[in-house]
Amino acid sequence: MIAIQNLTKRFGSLVALDSLTLEIGPGEIFGFIGPNGAGKSTTMKVLACLLKQDSGEAFVCGKNTRKDADSIRRLVGYMPDFLGVYDDLTVDEYLQFFAAAFSVPRSRRRSVIDQVLELTDLTEKKHAMVDSLSRGMQQRLGVARVLIHEPQVLLLDEPASGLDPRARIEMRSLLIELRKMGKSLMVSSHILSELAEMCTSIGIVERGKLLYAGSIKDAYARVRSAALDVGDGSASGVPRERIVVVLHRASAPIETIAGSLRTDSRIASVTVDSPASLLIDLHLSEADGHAFVAELLIAGGARIHSIAPAEINLEDAFLKLTTGAIH
Ligand SMILES: Nc1ncnc2c1ncn2[C@@H]1O[C@H](COP(=O)(O)OP(=O)(O)OP(=O)(O)O)[C@@H](O)[C@H]1O
Ligand SMILES: [Mg+2]
Repeated sequence: MIAIQNLTKRFGSLVALDSLTLEIGPGEIFGFIGPNGAGKSTTMKVLACLLKQDSGEAFVCGKNTRKDADSIRRLVGYMPDFLGVYDDLTVDEYLQFFAAAFSVPRSRRRSVIDQVLELTDLTEKKHAMVDSLSRGMQQRLGVARVLIHEPQVLLLDEPASGLDPRARIEMRSLLIELRKMGKSLMVSSHILSELAEMCTSIGIVERGKLLYAGSIKDAYARVRSAALDVGDGSASGVPRERIVVVLHRASAPIETIAGSLRTDSRIASVTVDSPASLLIDLHLSEADGHAFVAELLIAGGARIHSIAPAEINLEDAFLKLTTGAIH
């Protein structure tokens, strides 16, 4: 659906896209992730034929953005990061305007608009003024607008930005619904966890370069090893799991308990986190790990309050991924 090959875009001396290469298959929800200024919006604008690259190629449904801009504009629904404000239009008038702009035949306009209003849950707001809508409704109206000409491919630039948790969930279900309707989606965000539940694949971009493309599962695996690879400098690459053990009252000093755990070959490292808690990195999965760590501790006379997987700080891990610390 989308193919980007060595795409480069400069603004003066600034290299916004640096030989970016990326592919998105049909029926995907592709999450495009990266910090501010990474090049997400620039990439989407090139794909929407609103910006010309300096070199490289971009294709949508096999059509080249340099040569087939007119057909691409019909195939693509592009929602920019900032929606224009139309303060003197109702929701219905706003959509009528875009239907006319996209040359939707007059006879079909009413039914198409009613369908997208229904889909985006805005039917009740049909006669409301656009500027009276809440932020979440305005974002949904933005999606409604890009659906008017029934595009195959949607390029949505941060559709969930500024939304509260409920509105985010609603936006997510809407995007999943659109995928079910057979559309391919490219959705940008800063936040890995926001995309995790709906994307079929993701790409992480920073300073115009692609750092990662692939499944969420593999990204999480990298993020996990990035999160674990803190402080002790031990090599990542070996799958490891971190668990947190909190003890009630140890019969032996916590350092002694830590010391005896360290002699087990299944344990990569043990850190005394507080007088009553240990951080344990295992060479195996959590599920197996919990049982044997519990056995070792009980055998050593410790009383366990809790054993749980360590929380992964996605933000920290994401920072590591996007500063080139992990490849
Ligand atoms: N029209 C422009 N003129 C000059 N520089 C630009 C222009 N558009 C983008 N840039 C620069 O290109 C780089 C990439 O910007 P872009 O908007 O693509 O990033 P982004 O990943 O979408 O960031 P954000 O998360 O903040 O939306 C930035 O350094 C930005 O300042
Ligand atoms: Mg942007």
